[in-house]
Amino acid sequence: MEQSHILLLPFPSQSHVNPMLQFGKRLASHNLHVTLANTKFLNNTTKPDPGPVSIESISDGFDSDGFNAAPNVESYLDRLESVGSETLSDLIESLKSKSRPVHVLVYDPFLAWAWDVADRFGLRSAAFFTQSCAVDVIYGHVWEGWVEVPVTDRVRLPGLGPLEPRDLPSYVSDSDRVPKYPGYAALLMNQYKNLEKVDVVLVNSFYELEKKEFDWMKSRLPVKSIGPTVPSTYLDNRIPSDSYYVFDTHTIDIAPYIDFLDSNPPRSVIYVSFGSMAAPSPEQTQEIASAFVATKKCFIWVVRKSELAKLPKEFVRETAGRGQVVTWCNQLDVLAHVGTGCFVTHCGWNSTTEGIGLGVPMVGVPQFSDQTTNAKYVEDVWKVGVRVKTDEKGFVRGEELERCIKEVMDGERSGEIRENAKKWSELAKEAISEGGSSDKSIMEFIDECCK
Ligand code: UDX
Repeated sequence: MEQSHILLLPFPSQSHVNPMLQFGKRLASHNLHVTLANTKFLNNTTKPDPGPVSIESISDGFDSDGFNAAPNVESYLDRLESVGSETLSDLIESLKSKSRPVHVLVYDPFLAWAWDVADRFGLRSAAFFTQSCAVDVIYGHVWEGWVEVPVTDRVRLPGLGPLEPRDLPSYVSDSDRVPKYPGYAALLMNQYKNLEKVDVVLVNSFYELEKKEFDWMKSRLPVKSIGPTVPSTYLDNRIPSDSYYVFDTHTIDIAPYIDFLDSNPPRSVIYVSFGSMAAPSPEQTQEIASAFVATKKCFIWVVRKSELAKLPKEFVRETAGRGQVVTWCNQLDVLAHVGTGCFVTHCGWNSTTEGIGLGVPMVGVPQFSDQTTNAKYVEDVWKVGVRVKTDEKGFVRGEELERCIKEVMDGERSGEIRENAKKWSELAKEAISEGGSSDKSIMEFIDECCK
């Protein structure tokens, strides 16, 4: 029988490519042929470890400088759609002519137009959500017109517990942001476009983590939970492997952060990262820095190169011997290390699932988009950490961050939080192990769509 060929189409940003590539590796381990279509720009500027997944190029219309060359978000997204669908079609044609015809297109619902390409070629189609089910459900309600944006009062929506405006994705609740980034807002609001026509909807979560939310989605869509996409080598006894996709657009410092973790007692080091996009203001960076000066605890803080100038001048001297500032690291290696005791995170969905998968208690400092909802769940639903209190503009004071770190690492509830973190980490591992909920769903996806 001909080997099925799955083409993966992620949204062209690191945190969307990553989970889809991990999923692709998993499919490839079941003897399927898997190709990932990345933009030329990302293929030229990053060196992924694709393992058995073939990498091909499409274009977003900005091959030399990527998103930064676009005059604004809207024109980037317009060109991504027009040039992207044309070059995706070219790629499908060319694979066919090389006797590697594509059978299934797995695409990010940020790229709702990809369904039309799949349809034109008669391919099976799967939409792959890289955000939590809770966030998927919220956008589903917006799509169906059950909530009007921006939401300004507490809401009770089917499939979800009660949510305050601050718990909703920022594009749904923040009246400042909605007109500011109309392109992104529209992209997020339109994720459900075409979903009723796809063969399957995949979510990077696991059933046990979001039962109510998953069931709501299931009542409308052929949804399957296949996550977390954290490589199983990390979840198995926390043994790091080098198979994870670490982008090297960010230089990974030679700084010996793993040695640093080795040299500290178990669960004593704070790991801090705000992901690949968030850029806290200089004032906010100063407040965060003041928390690390005050805690007296050891820490590793990822400050991307473009953000370094925001660090207070005296900071490195004031925390000498107990702090490491790195411009990028292998986050999974750090989270998997027994020396790490607390993850101060912006609560991007990948970071959140990595923290859960590796059982590290978290302090949520959400910045925008889905991060606010993830932070709400970290604190109130999974109870694996706390979320900082902010002013109405989302600004957090250093003393507040310090208080939260203390609460998670040494406070009265720290034992309970650690226990919960351990429980969820075990459930995550079970879900992706043979016979677990996500493993079964992946096998069903293969049976139903890839044979
Ligand atoms: C973005 C959005 O901000 C997020 O809200 C959404 O859920 C996904 O897209 P990003 O901000 O980059 O993502 O955050 P996140 O989803 O947490 O992804 C960051 C990734 O970079 C993680 O996989 C993390 O392991 C990795 N990382 C981060 C590193 O490998 N090294 C680092 O030093 C920092």
